[in-house]
Order: sequence, then structure tokens, then C-alpha cells
Amino acid sequence: MDPRVIAALLDWQAELGADEWIGDGPVDRFALAEAARAAPVVAARPRPAAEPPPEPAKVDPVAEARQLAAQASSLDHLAELQSGFAHCELKKGARNFVFCDGRAGARVMIVGEAPGADEDRQGKPFVGRAGQLLDRMLAAIGLDRHAPDMERAVYITNVLPWRPPGNRDPEPAEIAMMQPFVRRHIELAAPDLLVLVGNHSCQALLGQRGITKLRGRWTETAGRPALPMLHPAYLLRNPYAKRDSWADLLSLQDRLRGR
Ligand code: URA
Repeated sequence: MDPRVIAALLDWQAELGADEWIGDGPVDRFALAEAARAAPVVAARPRPAAEPPPEPAKVDPVAEARQLAAQASSLDHLAELQSGFAHCELKKGARNFVFCDGRAGARVMIVGEAPGADEDRQGKPFVGRAGQLLDRMLAAIGLDRHAPDMERAVYITNVLPWRPPGNRDPEPAEIAMMQPFVRRHIELAAPDLLVLVGNHSCQALLGQRGITKLRGRWTETAGRPALPMLHPAYLLRNPYAKRDSWADLLSLQDRLRGR
């Protein structure tokens, strides 16, 4: 087959969200179906009618998340409790639990949306292309997620700790059940300032969407000043918007300098 056709077919699969492989070799599902059809049919013996299983007890995932998050006495404890939270379906499809990167105790805490493929693979937030751009943006105002000096360090997390399949948008129910964890995360990390990148983090922490309107306007959430900013993935697609983000970075720098 023409390699360009193969590349186009692979791109198409990736666009559909099939950007991971789960086996070492291809499986011919048509041949399997054919074999199943050809196999002799064994008549099933009728089973005696079983008792219907008891109704499972109704759980309120948001209430349970609130209860668990409130118990966390440290960041490690929160990570343990959150990673064990069983009601978020995203957990089943993710490779890794993505909790944080950077330095806890930094003056600035960044709250992103959800891990992508690279973050899911490495178990750390913002390590793919968008994360590399975020690092360059922070460096432009002298910040660095790994800086030994706490004045320059940054702490990073996401609203969702598990990757949504095919990088789809988080669902409101997923955001609602992770919100208590992210709020406790902020309390325990205790930054001076928050930066909310993208629509979903504004939705989770401000209850508002419309990042192009919200960006650059300081507000308050979780008891701290918070600056909504455009998501670096948006900037990769819309480089002309970097001008706005530069203004927002300067505003962040001013706040850090106490102006
Ligand atoms: N986008 C996010 O919001 N967070 C990540 O960790 C990666 C991409």
C-alpha cells in the first residue's frame, strides 16, 4: 500500500481517538466471527429461574468524594485516597493516576484540565507539547516547576487525575466528583496564587465557562486569588492568542512582586 495512504489511515484513527495500541499483533475479527459461525452449536440447557440479585445500595459519588477529600491530612494521603476513589469510570481506561508535578509549597499553583496521552503514560501533568509550551511561558517570567527556590517554583495539578478516552472533554459529572479532591489539593498545597488554565478548570473552580472572556481577570476561589488563562493547547492551535497570554503572565508576575 502507498505509505501516504497508510499515514492518512493512521491519522484518521488517531483523530477518532484510537491513539494507543493494546496488542502486539493485529487480530482478524472477521476470521474469528467466521470460526464462531462454523463451530457446532450446542443447545443450551434451560436454567432454573434465579432469584433477582439484590438492588445495589445507591451511592452519591460527589458526597463520597467530599467525605474522602476531607479526611486527607497531607498531599500524599490525598493522593492515596483519590487514587482509590472507585466511582469515576475514567480510572478504568487510564494507565496512570496523574496527581501532581513541581514543588508543593510553591507560591503559584496551576490547575489544568485532564491528562492527555503523554501525561497518562508518564503519570505527570503537563509533560506533552502543551506542557512544554507551559514551561516556556513560565520561564518567560522566571518561574520553573522544579526550581529549588520556592519563590520561583510552581506546583501543578489537573481537575481530573485520569485521562478521558481519546482526549474527549470531561463530563460535568466527572468534574463534579473530582472537584472536592482538587479543592482539598489546593488547601493542602497552600499556594499564594492560583492559575486556572482552560475552560474546564474554570468550570470546576469558578463554576463559569467562557475562557476567552474570563482570561486575564483576577478573581478568587478556594480562598485565594485566581487568574484564568488560556490553555496552552489552545495557544498551540491559535498562536495569535499568545499575545493575550503574555499580558496574563505579566499580570501574574506583578502579583507575585506584590504590585
Ligand atoms: N492538558 C491539561 O490540562 N493537563 C495536562 O496535564 C495536559 C494537557
